[in-house]
Amino acid sequence: MEFDFGKLTSKDRYKLLSSTVIPRPIALVSTIDENGVLNAAPYSFFNMFAEEPATCVLGIQKRPDGKYKDTSSLIRKSGEYVINLVDMDLAESMNISSINFDPEYDEFDLAGFTPVASRLIAPPRIKEAPVSFECRRTVTLQLNEERDLVVGEVLTMHARDGLIDPETLYLDREKYDVVGRLYADLYAPLREVFSLKSSTQEEWLEKHNKKVGD
Ligand SMILES: Cc1cc2nc3c(=O)[nH]c(=O)nc-3n(C[C@H](O)[C@H](O)[C@H](O)COP(=O)(O)O)c2cc1C
Repeated sequence: MEFDFGKLTSKDRYKLLSSTVIPRPIALVSTIDENGVLNAAPYSFFNMFAEEPATCVLGIQKRPDGKYKDTSSLIRKSGEYVINLVDMDLAESMNISSINFDPEYDEFDLAGFTPVASRLIAPPRIKEAPVSFECRRTVTLQLNEERDLVVGEVLTMHARDGLIDPETLYLDREKYDVVGRLYADLYAPLREVFSLKSSTQEEWLEKHNKKVGD
């Protein structure tokens, strides 16, 4: 069965993409306004795309009334934000922070996040998050009137003590109860894990006894 995106509404494309591209990591983004009011909201159109420079991208849509989301307007103004990652313990408060509260409300306070001062930027990170990235916007790509892709550089990273070995930089996965977004109100923890070894061309061809022209 084929779904021709040229013939579908954007709502239907959203349905198909967001229910099949799963699970998606969740960026719980913290920002701050010029009066010091703290803002936080989850974004699952999110991933890392490079390490030189360390680059993450967020997909932020306008509200149905055509206004920018608070995260979007604050990043547009200051270019500074923290991406906090979400584990099981944070899931419920992350969901509270997705409510469309007016910008005057301190969403750290409403969702129960503890602010910790960032080292390089003004918005604080969330103490309860297992991992946080202090970020500065590189460029915002305006895909259309409604949709921004915020490309940003990770300036520095904070991880909960004991999560990452400072010598090897290996993560202790048993201690990282990260949550991914599925679709609608569904989420998935990272439980069953399996390994697939990668091969070079030579190793694979030899193992499978294949030659050019076979
Ligand atoms: C798990 C989750 C993921 C979300 N991902 C996105 C997203 O990728 N892009 C988007 O525009 N809104 C997304 N939202 C909706 C925003 O979080 C919501 O509109 C929020 O009110 C924005 O808050 P702000 O105005 O403080 O930025 C998501 C909501 C949830 C619960």
